[in-house]
Amino acid sequence: MTEKPGITPWEVSNELKETDYDRIANEFGAKLIDGQMISRIKKIAGEVHPFLTHRIFFSHRDLDIALDSYEKGNKFYLYTGRGPSGEMHLGHLLPFVFTKWLQDRFDVDLIVQITDDEKYLFRDVNERDLEKYTKQNILDILSVGFRPEKTHVLVDTHHSGLLYNQAIKVSKHITASSVKAVFGFSDSDNIGKYFFTSMQSVPAFIMSVLKGRNVRCMIPYAIDQDPHFKLSRDVLPKLGYYKPSSIISKFIPSLKGGGKMSSSDRTTGIYLDDDPKTVRRKLMKYAFSGGRDTAEEQRKYGANPDIDFAFNVYRMLEPDIGKTSRVYEDYRSGKMLSGEMKGLAADMINEFLARIQSQREIVEKDYDSYMFDPSKLQ
Ligand code: TYM
Repeated sequence: MTEKPGITPWEVSNELKETDYDRIANEFGAKLIDGQMISRIKKIAGEVHPFLTHRIFFSHRDLDIALDSYEKGNKFYLYTGRGPSGEMHLGHLLPFVFTKWLQDRFDVDLIVQITDDEKYLFRDVNERDLEKYTKQNILDILSVGFRPEKTHVLVDTHHSGLLYNQAIKVSKHITASSVKAVFGFSDSDNIGKYFFTSMQSVPAFIMSVLKGRNVRCMIPYAIDQDPHFKLSRDVLPKLGYYKPSSIISKFIPSLKGGGKMSSSDRTTGIYLDDDPKTVRRKLMKYAFSGGRDTAEEQRKYGANPDIDFAFNVYRMLEPDIGKTSRVYEDYRSGKMLSGEMKGLAADMINEFLARIQSQREIVEKDYDSYMFDPSKLQ
């Protein structure tokens, strides 16, 4: 089967390297975002997001079809999500930051799915904690700054009637053997896991159900979620709906290098509730460095910024591409030391987290108004 061990929605190998992404996208059957596609997005959106320029969002499925249709006046809607099993880290927020940009530039609706049922089935987390993290994660996500009137949050167990009635239709077209092949389940996995992917498919066509006409859907996510949508794309046309389009990112790696920032080990990631001192300490202590062992060697030979955690995160958060290029050059040539690079990244991250934390109080007041309500969709 093409869905390799190494990446499933629930397991990402620590060995994952930058050079593996194109191969994996290829094996999954997704296309790479090339220069032409970036120019096209720029033409329509009026600007290009650094996540595209830096190839963080690097791959897609049928993005061209969604753009063709958009240019003819038929808007797509955006759909993305979060499994609320714990506190969110910087990596989890990445697709939401990009989704906000897409929502602003394309002026479209967004559905955010919170898969509390998924985490109940796949993780050892009790219902009380799930409820706590559901609320907390939704607030973190909304703090990114989505448009209130165009943003609709679906929580699987709260909106179960709406979702379940559609999920059974999806599940009727998925066999146990295909789920085993795609996700690597065995006979000893609980049967809820086998059904779950049907729930994650539903928001990809729910707008079409509610509006009574086909509406295109575009889904931003990191590549671990792709197996779900590969299945959705097989099933949805059988139900009379469009295949969803996707725009797919790489992972923010673990602080320690490789793999992805993981929620099972707090020292591998920067968490949204980390205070400025903790962020700085984590970077100084754990961040994988592309610099040399001593300041002297660094001055002489320079660093490899491409594999450096601090540089990579700095690059994601710095909107000024000219500035990023200068930092790259200074670090690569040895003019800048590893500690300075980490300090710069810490400042950038702390600024970003402060913005998120200050927005949280504002969105908390309007929490209920973001919840999915079919009567608000015209
Ligand atoms: P979850 O909660 O594991 O992750 C939320 C989103 O973050 C992405 N992601 C990352 N991106 C960059 N760097 C990382 N280190 C990193 N780790 C995770 C994930 O790909 C995801 O986009 N089942 C899903 C929830 C979901 C969903 C969706 C996600 C439901 N519907 C539609 C995307 C699109 C989950 O548990 O995501």
